[in-house]
Formats: sequence, C-alpha cells, structure tokens
Amino acid sequence: MAGRRRVTIGIIGAGFVANVHVENYGKVHGVDLRVKGVASLRPERGKEFAARHDLPRVYPSVDDVLDDPEINLVDLCVPNYEHAPLIVRCAAARKAVICEKPLTGFFGDGEPMVGNRFGRAEMLAGALANADRALDALARAGVRLHYAENWVYGPNIQKAARLIARTGGAILRIAGEESHSGTHSDYARQWRYSGGGSLINKACHPLGAALHLKYEEGRRKYERPVRPARVVAAVARLTHTRGFLADQAKFIREGWVDSEDWASFFLTFDDDTVAQITASDIVLGGIQNILSVYGSQAVVHVNNVPNTSVVAYAPRDGLYGGEYIREKVETTAGWQFTSGDEDWMNGFPEELQDFCEAVADDREPLSGAMLARDVVAVTYGAYLSAEQGRAVDLRPHLR
Ligand SMILES: NC(=O)c1ccc[n+]([C@@H]2O[C@H](COP(=O)([O-])OP(=O)(O)OC[C@H]3O[C@@H](n4cnc5c(N)ncnc54)[C@H](O)[C@@H]3O)[C@@H](O)[C@H]2O)c1
Repeated sequence: MAGRRRVTIGIIGAGFVANVHVENYGKVHGVDLRVKGVASLRPERGKEFAARHDLPRVYPSVDDVLDDPEINLVDLCVPNYEHAPLIVRCAAARKAVICEKPLTGFFGDGEPMVGNRFGRAEMLAGALANADRALDALARAGVRLHYAENWVYGPNIQKAARLIARTGGAILRIAGEESHSGTHSDYARQWRYSGGGSLINKACHPLGAALHLKYEEGRRKYERPVRPARVVAAVARLTHTRGFLADQAKFIREGWVDSEDWASFFLTFDDDTVAQITASDIVLGGIQNILSVYGSQAVVHVNNVPNTSVVAYAPRDGLYGGEYIREKVETTAGWQFTSGDEDWMNGFPEELQDFCEAVADDREPLSGAMLARDVVAVTYGAYLSAEQGRAVDLRPHLR
C-alpha cells in the first residue's frame, strides 16, 4: 500500500443501494479504507444502518459529512433528483464522489409531469445542463466522479470484453436488457424524483455496458473512444393498458404516476455499428440482466442474471426460509436460477475495488464522467425520439 492514500468514505442515504455498497466495501482489498459513517434523511434509518453495519458515525446531515476533514470520498446512494445538487456540494467541499446511476436527469418543477407540461427537447437540454453543472463543479475543484455503473465491472462483461478484444474483430451489434416485475421504490415511479421510468432507471445498465465496450474498442482501433451518434426509441405504459387493468390478480407492480414501464431503443455509434437496448418493469420471473455482443470474429452471450450456475427446486414457496434466491423473484417455488454470489455477477465488489483504488492512487476510474454524461444524452435523446417519432442526432449534445 506504499504511496497510496487512505480512503475514508461517508455514505449519503441508507436505503437499498447503500446496503449493497456497504456490504461490498468489506470485500475491497489492498486499499487502506474505512467507511466512517452515514447520513440519512430519516435519522432512525441512519442509526439502524450504522448499527447493522458497525459504522462508527451517524452524521446528523450531509453538511456534517462534508465538514469532516477525514472523509475524502462521498458515496451518494440517494434518489436521482438529488444527485447533481449533492455533487455540486461535494465539489465545493473538495470531496471525490461516487454517484449511483443515472448521473442526473430532468425533474421539472417538483410537480407530477401530467399533461406534457415539458417537451422532451426541453428535458434533453435541462438534463444535460444539470449534468454539466455537476461535472464542471467537480472539474473546477479538481476531484473526480466515480460513476457507479456496476455492469461495466461485472466479471462476465469484462470476460466478453477480453474475448472480443483478443479476436481483433469489430463489435457490430450489441443487444442488452434489464427487466423485472417492478421497482421496489415509490420515488422511481415518479418523474419529478426519478427523471423518467424504466428507460432512465434500467436501460442505463445495458447502455452503460454497451458504451463501455465501444469506447474500449475505439481506443484499441482508432485511438479514441467510439461514441454514440443517433437514437430511435419507443416507450409505453403497459400497466395502464386495458388488458393489464382487467386482470384480477396482479403480480406486476403498478403505481407509475407519470413515466413509462417499458422502453426500447436502437442506438447507432459513430462507427455506424449498432446497439439494441430494452428495459422494462413488466417482466415476471425475477430480474433479467443480459447482454449479447455480436462481433465480426466472435459472438458472446452474457447471462449475468439469471444463469444456470446454481439451479434449485422446491415444491412450495418459503421453504428456503430467509436464504436469498434472486433479485425481484416473485416466488421461490419451482425451479429457481439462484447464484453463489449475485453481487459478484453484477459487478458490485469489482466496482468499489476500482473506485477505492482510483482515489487511493489519484487516477481515473474505469467508469467515470464521460460514460455518466453520455448515458444522460442517450437517455433523453431517446425520450425525444419517442415523443417525435424520429431519429435524434446525439452528436451536437456530446462533450
Ligand atoms: N446500481 C444498481 O443496481 C442500483 C440499484 C438500485 C438503486 N440504484 C440507484 O441508487 C440510488 C438510490 O436508490 P435506492 O433504491 O437505494 O433508494 P432508496 O429509496 O431505497 O434509498 C434512498 C435513501 O436516501 C435517503 N435520502 C434521500 N435524500 C437524502 C438526502 N438529501 N440526504 C440524506 N439521505 C437522503 C433516503 O432516506 C433513503 O435512505 C438511485 O439513484 C438509484 O437509481 C442503483
């Protein structure tokens, strides 16, 4: 560890993803790191979180985290609308930041987005303005963004990247999907907090992996990353359709206030190759995190979740007690596609390893500002395309 800085982390938020992060910090090795404490909007939740994970401090507020001179990395595990304003505050305190996906979005005026009060062109401009405020503040302060796109780090995605790279061929087409039967989070079903629905919250994952693979291919072949160029998209609200509403029993989560629960888009890169990305909150059977890479010299299918590494059968739900089976699976009865280590498959420990090393060694993380901003540009370009029924040229919107 000689020459490496000590990494002292303050977590903001004590919900779903904060739990994933704190558990996976425990797997980081070779870095002198300490998770010093947590600040949460609801103090009881912060206290309970700190006690459960044996953290030394519960900070009364975000300001108390930012005022702690020992903390040099702030981990933002809060809803999307809070990401950019909190990044600006972290930058003012000269703290490096981990920001969960997505970097930011367009959140309007704090009211529900009923009646199309904002056009998608205004949203695209607004989301990118939020992104640039956050990224410019970090750049001015000389601290880095660590963009928590865990798919970039998944060992299966990294294996696909190495296989394709070794063939020397081109990536011609990528097809990816993240879907399940509905978000656990109330705020994620409301545009003013989330900046959209399935498209912003789920498609960002396969999109992030696809962009990363094309950046790397470009760096190998052309000494510059291949970037996104055009997008054509469609979105739908399938839990609002007559057929769905007529069902007596509902297994798919409802309650989407003003955003989509399905989205699909075609992305063309600036080397004229393509990606097809789908995301939805209407798929039963547990989470699906899948990506296929069609190269000119090889094809690689990545089954992050589900896969057949551990297949288990039980005749009734509940027989496994509290043993974890799979994210968002509706029942544990029947054949189950579980996993020895779902966090590892999803790339969480590898992501935090890279982020902690990047801070300790004062270097760029693998997943950083360019990926975070490109995801915002493609996402809101896709919303604009879905509204207008035409392809959207992304190039004027990139940096
Ligand atoms: N990478 C992934 O696979 C993944 C999975 C789930 C969520 N996420 C992302 O993580 C983020 C959080 O989602 P979640 O599911 O954990 O949400 P959540 O609702 O479970 O938890 C959010 C937490 O943030 C706290 N909070 C909100 N505003 C705060 C503030 N100003 N100061 C302090 N605490 C505050 C809330 O009290 C709560 O504890 C979102 O951006 C989401 O997109 C990523």
